[in-house]
Parts: sequence; C-alpha cells; structure tokens
Amino acid sequence: MITIDFTVHKEAREHNIRKARENRILIPTISEMQHPETAPEKVRESLKNVGLWDVNPLNLFRITWKNEPKESGGQFREVPNYIEFPSALTGVPCRIVAMVGKWFPTGCHKVGASFGCLAPALVTGQFDVDSQKAVWPSTGNYCRGGAFNSALLGAQGVAILPAEMSRERFDWLGEIGAEVIATPGCESNVKEIFDKTNELKADPNCMIFNQFEQMGNVLWHYNVSGNALADVFEAVKRPGDRFAGACFTSGSAGTMSTGDRLKELYPKLKLAVGEALQCPTILNNGFGGHRIEGIGDKHIPWIHNVKNTDMVIDVDDEDSQRLLRLFNTEEGQKYLKEGLGLQDEEILQMTYLGISGIANLICCIKMARYYELTENDVVATVLTDSAVMYRSRIEELNEEYGAYSQKDAEIDHCLHMLALKTDNMQELSYLDRKRIHNLKYYTWVEQQGKTMEELNALWYDQKGTWDAVHQQAKELDDMIRAFNEESGVLKML
Ligand SMILES: Cc1ncc(COP(=O)(O)O)c(C=O)c1O
Repeated sequence: MITIDFTVHKEAREHNIRKARENRILIPTISEMQHPETAPEKVRESLKNVGLWDVNPLNLFRITWKNEPKESGGQFREVPNYIEFPSALTGVPCRIVAMVGKWFPTGCHKVGASFGCLAPALVTGQFDVDSQKAVWPSTGNYCRGGAFNSALLGAQGVAILPAEMSRERFDWLGEIGAEVIATPGCESNVKEIFDKTNELKADPNCMIFNQFEQMGNVLWHYNVSGNALADVFEAVKRPGDRFAGACFTSGSAGTMSTGDRLKELYPKLKLAVGEALQCPTILNNGFGGHRIEGIGDKHIPWIHNVKNTDMVIDVDDEDSQRLLRLFNTEEGQKYLKEGLGLQDEEILQMTYLGISGIANLICCIKMARYYELTENDVVATVLTDSAVMYRSRIEELNEEYGAYSQKDAEIDHCLHMLALKTDNMQELSYLDRKRIHNLKYYTWVEQQGKTMEELNALWYDQKGTWDAVHQQAKELDDMIRAFNEESGVLKML
C-alpha cells in the first residue's frame, strides 16, 4: 500500500471515540493546522490557560507553525514563526529565512510528523487505544512527539531511540511516562532501530508508527509545513524577490515533502537534501557515525521523493558543533554583538537553532554559493528543534575544548561559516537521482518487506503515489470531523 489506508475497523474506532469522549479529546484537522485561526473559538479561548508543553489534549491544536511564541497561553499568528539570518553572519548576499520549530509543543516540529502517522490509524480504528501501545521508532524527536501525542490521546507510547542520543531526550521521555527502549549506537544506527521494531511487530498489542515509511509523515509536511513556508516567503518578499531554493537535512525525509509543495507553488525553486559528510549515503553511497542529531542515515527513507530532489549537500559535523558553541556561549554571543553588530533579538534567535538547524543553515549558505544567489533571492529552511535540546552537548564541547573566548568565536565564524565552499555537494542529474532511489531496494525490498512493484511505483507513478498522498489530507479531514462529531467533545468543552 503506497497511499494511506483508510479502511475502517469499526469496533476499535468505537473504543477510540469512547476514549476521546471520556478524556475530552478533540482532534484538529490538517486544515486547522494550516489555518489555526479557524480552530473552534472555545478551543482558542481555553488555550489561554494552557502551557505550550502541557499534557493537555487542547495542545493538539498547537501542532502548527503559527503558534504565538510564548511558553504559556499563546494564541495564533498569521505568519508562521520564522527568522531571517543577517548577511554579516552568513557571508552571502542571498536572503536566508528559517521557520522555527521551537514553538511547537515538545519544542520540535516532529510532533507534526507523529500526528500525521497516528491520526489516520486513530480515526479509522486501525489502532485500538484500549488494547494497543503506540510504538515510535526514531533517532530522537519523532519518538518525543509520538510519546507526547500518545499521552494527549490517552494511549500508552513506546519510544525506540539510539542509546547515544542526548540526555535531555531520555529525561523528558521518562517524565512523560513513555516506555523507553534504547537501541545500540548513535544517530546513524537506523538498522538497529528497524530490527527492534520488527521484533515488536510480532506483538498484536503493539502498533508501529514507522516515520521512515509511513505516508502520514509526507501528508503532514506537504500540507502543513509546505504551505507555511510559502506563507513566510509571501510575507518577506520584496519587489523582484525570487524564491530560489529550499534545503532540508533528512532523517525520515518527511520534512523534504515541504519542498514538494514549494516546487509546485514556485516551479523554479531548487530543492536540496542535506546529510552529514561523516555519513555520505546520498552523495556517495557512504556510511559512518556523525554528530548531527536527528538525521539518521545509512539508508534512503522509503518516503523520500528522490526524483523531485535537485541537489545533495553534505555538512561536516565539525562545522555544526563549532557553530553550536558560537551561538550558545556568552563569549560567542559577545562576538556576535560586538564583532558582527547583531541586535540582541537576533542573538537570541541564534539559540533557536538545534544542531540540525545549524546544518540546515549551512546547506542554505552552500546552495547560495553554488548558484551565486543575490540579495533578490530567498532560500528557506526549517529549524526542527532548538539549542535547548543540546545543553549537555554544549557542556561536553566546553569540557573537550576548554573555555570559549571571543577569539575562538571569531575563528569559528570565519572557518566554519564564512569559509564554507561548494565542496561535498552535487546537483543531481536524472541518473544520479535514480542511483539514490535504487538504494532504497536494499533497505526496503530486501529487508523490510516492500515489493519491487511498489518501489518502481514511487519512481514511475507520481500521480498514483506522491500526488495521491498529498491529496489525501481532504479525506483525512473528513474522517477527523466525523470522529469528532460522534465523540461530541466540542459540545462538552
Ligand atoms: C533535530 C532533528 N532534525 C532533523 C530531523 C529530520 O527531519 P525529517 O525526519 O523530517 O527528515 C529530525 C528528525 O527526527 C530531528 O529530530
């Protein structure tokens, strides 16, 4: 099955509706996530008393890029949360903008991907909240989003993630009451996660929400992130500006679907995928461990629409680690202020970049250099999570390299940002894309039970696969509305 299966399982659906009624859970539609101002007034009013990270079902309505940037009581804004990077920092004239994931519940946009995977199963009854656990295999944030959504929906969540991920992630999962399974290795040990997942698949009490293969992840990003990033461009563009490019590092490749939407709206836009140079699977069929947390590799995710990807950009993880320290230490921030003339607000915004956000910014700079983009070009990306998730990493770097100074900050800025070049990247020809797509065979057909016909469909049948999934948001929304109607929760709020 390549599109999302909406087959209804009547009995389990009844259980889910009963649970929603008991716990007063109203499910938002994809359309409401795009346009949160259309959420029911009662919901918007009640959110005035709810914290951004509270385990309160109303926070399902905050799975949107348009939250007011507030820890508590926030409403919604017209333009998604974004920042623009000053040229003094990036060293390129091209305008680089990024949507901010920090203001999602859990502090990361992955809560949207997990909603996209869970919602169809919940409203059809393919997942039974009474008898099943929701299992979230991930390299970190997706399982946090999944655990959060499970808690909001009254289901037991199980998070699977590599043992070497940052301490903050494990602490938080414990707090939210998720069962945690740590698999061997780091960031790029996705195969170990799949092995554990396959073991759990045999248990009928577990339902696996595999972000690397489930089209709900695609549906959510295409519809919610894609349209939101277009809103940002429309808000920032000046006369004569072009939307020249978008760059996203890939973990599950869900975020890459943002680019599929943008390429429809702005057909000349170039879409790049980023990965770690220390694990150059897309660029070079390569492998290895790396430190850009959140982008797992050594395989091509099933849901990566490779045929629509114009460029691959590899990021040296030493660059992102060095810049993490530059943006998040007192001396680094002094340099940004005194050396580069950044405003206090801009300096604060640099803490909205987690490690993969920094890698995304690096990709944008490399793309700008490659295409020699000008001040009339806009390149966009997302900041999946923020530096809050990496405090322990910053401490580790401080221990490893010693105290940071303004001199170190200047060197890091010059060496790891201003000196970025067009190395370790490639504009993808038809054959290059086919080579990358073909790599999916080894993970998905050989190991994970997909068929060759399905694999070929992802390449040859755009209408029956990618386009069809993108359009399924409407059907999903109809099912969500019917579910809410039957639970009667809106009347109870
Ligand atoms: C911090 C971080 N950055 C980037 C990504 C990659 O996003 P995607 O899975 O949509 O490719 C993830 C995925 O979990 C992440 O947690």
